[in-house]
Amino acid sequence: MATTSDRASRSEELRHYRMLVDGEWVEASSGETFESVDPYTGRTWATIPEASDSDVDAAVKAAQRALDGPWGRLSGVERARLIRRLAEEIDAHAEQLAVTETTDNGKVIREMLGQLKNLPEWYYYFAGAADKIQGETIPSSIPNYFIYTLREPVGVIGAITPWNSPLLVTSYKLAPALAAGCTFVLKPAEQTSASALEFGKLFEAAGFPPGVFNVVTGHGPTTGGALAKNPGVQKVVFTGSSATGRQVMKDASDHLAQVTLELGGKSPNIVFADADLEAAANGAIAGIFAAAGQTCVAGSRLLVQAEVYDELIDRVVAKARAIQLGDPLLQETEMGPIAFREQWEKIKDYIAIGENEGATLAYGGRVPDRSDLQEGFFLEPTVFTDVDNQMRVAREEIFGPVLTVIPFENEEKALEIANDSVYGLAAGVWTSNLQRGHRMAQALQAGTVWLNSYRNIGFNVPFGGYKESGIGRENGLEAIHEFTQVKSVWVELSGATRDPFRLG
Ligand code: NAI
Ligand code: MG
Repeated sequence: MATTSDRASRSEELRHYRMLVDGEWVEASSGETFESVDPYTGRTWATIPEASDSDVDAAVKAAQRALDGPWGRLSGVERARLIRRLAEEIDAHAEQLAVTETTDNGKVIREMLGQLKNLPEWYYYFAGAADKIQGETIPSSIPNYFIYTLREPVGVIGAITPWNSPLLVTSYKLAPALAAGCTFVLKPAEQTSASALEFGKLFEAAGFPPGVFNVVTGHGPTTGGALAKNPGVQKVVFTGSSATGRQVMKDASDHLAQVTLELGGKSPNIVFADADLEAAANGAIAGIFAAAGQTCVAGSRLLVQAEVYDELIDRVVAKARAIQLGDPLLQETEMGPIAFREQWEKIKDYIAIGENEGATLAYGGRVPDRSDLQEGFFLEPTVFTDVDNQMRVAREEIFGPVLTVIPFENEEKALEIANDSVYGLAAGVWTSNLQRGHRMAQALQAGTVWLNSYRNIGFNVPFGGYKESGIGRENGLEAIHEFTQVKSVWVELSGATRDPFRLG
């Protein structure tokens, strides 16, 4: 049972955070604040400023000044040096940041420590790219011209991020943006703003000029909307639901800002009869119960070939039953609470929908009755079997620990069901047949495919969605292109005066 000695410490006093604008720690100009709630205790543990349109505008203007000023004048080598220092600062504060994130979103400390301890790698990798962003020379098609390109920063980036992996998802955007020479205004999710504000302190310590990284906090439609609509923002980068992504894209389109959108998923995790069933069952658990299913790549549809359908369900249910629910700050806890009340209610609604649609509740589905779990937003790991891919629980993103298991007959059918979704973020395939694995990888409509694995993400590997799962790519060298724009320069070499009425 829980002991206090191996638990990271939970803050007892109510903390107040300030926003970071132009290197200064500021309150909202209105003086308004909102509360951050620990989903394990159900208690408010911090208060956060609620930024208005004018606060957002001040941050965007500061980011523009940094771009026009000292930051914009740095070479890639100098940017790389600062980004590496930031990585060292993150490394030194990883544990504290992990505890803050777990306190805010209830994700288990195992997962958050893993994310935060790995976070410096994003900055080292992109620091390595910062001094290799270069144009090319293009041989001219007409005489006496020298033509070259410059790869320049897009400008001020407005980032809007979700609550499930706050600083990891921020870093997908921030590390390449800094490498490219952009400046940044972050609007973290209202449920998890504290870690972004603690993170902001590291910029000062690393020696960045003011205004390169700004954090404005507040609610989605107001503060987030103000950022997406601000004409000083050259690009809006967003992770969250597809519905909000659509709104953000509309708002950005008013001033023709570019967008990168990482949206939802309903990712298929496909198990063939020839697979290693123990590994596949383990992968199914990783896909849906890690992070209590609150991840964009959740393997929420488990497609299982008929011959091994019963056996695989038995294995998955046995593993689901063994999952340790508890205090997310304890090392041994495997599933914590759902991040906040509305999300918890939403998931419970979907469980009722699944039952009404005629899916079989093979395991879970209830709020656990353990006395130590009554303050938090807990749910049992839930397994629905005999699911039809047309049911709402198979089509809509639930974003919680709810697995839908769908049987299939053969490879062709598996592919048809897998691709019959508006989403296309990720997919898993479990098979011992090499040809089949690669055939599936090519035919699946998804930005990431895992063969005999699930839920790998790397700073060096492009990540993003097909179909309604998103636009653009994060991570890997691809990400540098998202934050740079190309300028072409033509140089006349002969000194002659040319025909003014002829193009070319
Ligand atoms: P959301 O997509 O509404 O929120 C994500 C971010 O967008 C937050 O920072 C929020 O403040 C901001 N936001 C909300 N409305 C906005 C607007 N009109 N303009 C600008 N910014 C806005 O997600 P929410 O409401 O927290 O969760 C709802 C559902 O979204 C979840 O149940 C889940 O299905 C999905 N979701 C998916 C994520 C993913 O990574 N695929 C991450 C978070 C949520
Ligand atoms: Mg929302």
